[in-house]
Amino acid sequence: MKVSVIGTGYVGLVTGVCLAEIGNEVICVDKIKEKIDMLKNGQCPIYEPGLETIIKNNIKRGRLKFSHKIEEGVKQSEIIFISVGTPSLPNGQADLSFVEQVAKEIGKSIDSYKIIVNKSTVPIGSGDWVSMMISESMETGNNKKVSFDVVSNPEFLREGSAIEDTFFPDRIVIGSSSKKAITIMIELYKPLLEQDFEWPDSKRLVPEVQKVPLVVTDLTSAEMIKYASNSFLATKISFINEIANICEKVGANVTAVAEGMGLDKRIGRLFLNAGIGWGGSCFPKDVAALTYIANEYGMTPQMLNAAISVNKEQKLKIIKKVQDELKIVKGKTIAVLGIAFKPDTDDVRDAPSISIMNGLSNLGAKIKTYDPIVKNKPDSLTDRVKICKDAYEAIDGADILILATEWRQFADLDFDKIKKTMNHNIIIDGRNFFNKEKLQDMGFRYIGIGR
Ligand SMILES: NC(=O)c1ccc[n+]([C@@H]2O[C@H](COP(=O)([O-])OP(=O)(O)OC[C@H]3O[C@@H](n4cnc5c(N)ncnc54)[C@H](O)[C@@H]3O)[C@@H](O)[C@H]2O)c1
Repeated sequence: MKVSVIGTGYVGLVTGVCLAEIGNEVICVDKIKEKIDMLKNGQCPIYEPGLETIIKNNIKRGRLKFSHKIEEGVKQSEIIFISVGTPSLPNGQADLSFVEQVAKEIGKSIDSYKIIVNKSTVPIGSGDWVSMMISESMETGNNKKVSFDVVSNPEFLREGSAIEDTFFPDRIVIGSSSKKAITIMIELYKPLLEQDFEWPDSKRLVPEVQKVPLVVTDLTSAEMIKYASNSFLATKISFINEIANICEKVGANVTAVAEGMGLDKRIGRLFLNAGIGWGGSCFPKDVAALTYIANEYGMTPQMLNAAISVNKEQKLKIIKKVQDELKIVKGKTIAVLGIAFKPDTDDVRDAPSISIMNGLSNLGAKIKTYDPIVKNKPDSLTDRVKICKDAYEAIDGADILILATEWRQFADLDFDKIKKTMNHNIIIDGRNFFNKEKLQDMGFRYIGIGR
């Protein structure tokens, strides 16, 4: 099938590349020309394990093309995915300006029947709104009689395992009022739904998936499935963080508590890791957007508000732990390992590490940080933070070491060496990742979250 994907970020690029891999002719479009130039040369502009190889393979096969012109993508495709960003406005509302620009451009270029697929996470009702934007834009051109359908097809991939998540999803959700569009979308996803494709990476394990469940529903419910899913996951993390805080008071170990809870099939083990709170490009903005929507209807979403409030406090708790240990933070040196909001991605949007570093820097501490992939200082991070070339440089002379992102390689750190270079041997393990007993036996003061 002929497909175009507008917006080649973490979602659009993975979607386009994987759809090419399963046999479609795909054009990925982005307004950033440098990004498109890199992609044309087979270079991946984001860090996502395995992605660059599939890009290169499909460019060679002639199934994957790149353009910075929406018109080119629209004219050459029957299915057009919108996967541009929908960041938060200061009031929590989703900013739909990128979606609006794209919808208007599509309206100008549409020349035959098209399916417009909202893959961006958009507020409830956006499907109808996109439809209106396209129609209004068509009215100014001479393509008024061309028909199109809008479909909601929310994305659930996780950065860091985006390829696996796309090939082996837990479910595919398609929302539309058009039977024709739904039929075509099912045809597009058939290889994934039936798990009938060749897994492109022989080095990586293939999960055992028989068939992928398909949820076909109306536009509004599909849009709500995405917001409700992310809000549930964020709430689950806030829940275990609250339990962790109670564990600290009563002397229980939240790791054991989560294990004991998670073995219950009704609860499940995933997203029950206590830590420094949720961040990233999706949870904060999606929970805020759903809260905003509820407010628009005169509702106070109490569970969502509680999840947000617990999360805000959780990030501050790390700062409080530093104050409890050092008493005076001014003039102290703090090493922070990990900047990305989670391992295996270079995404720093709303990363808890950044709030913590900015907070400690405002208190007068000197911050040194290291991340295996994030090498440049994110705009949201204060200039006073020093980015180091490795973990040992960050830790050298530190009074406290904070683990903010549990990159696998941090498990292999040489703590004998670290002990010799730190000022005070205090480790705050923001992800309950290190071996507490081993570090304590080595003479470190170990502070975890709820254990
Ligand atoms: N990142 C995730 O893990 C994830 C997971 C599920 C859903 N989502 C949702 O998917 C959407 C995209 O997220 P993302 O993380 O990929 O965003 P992103 O910021 O990484 O990428 C968006 C891309 O769209 C491009 N763009 C913006 N306006 C454009 C225009 N007018 N024409 C062409 N290109 C344009 C940008 O240049 C950018 O490359 C969001 O709504 C997000 O909530 C993200």
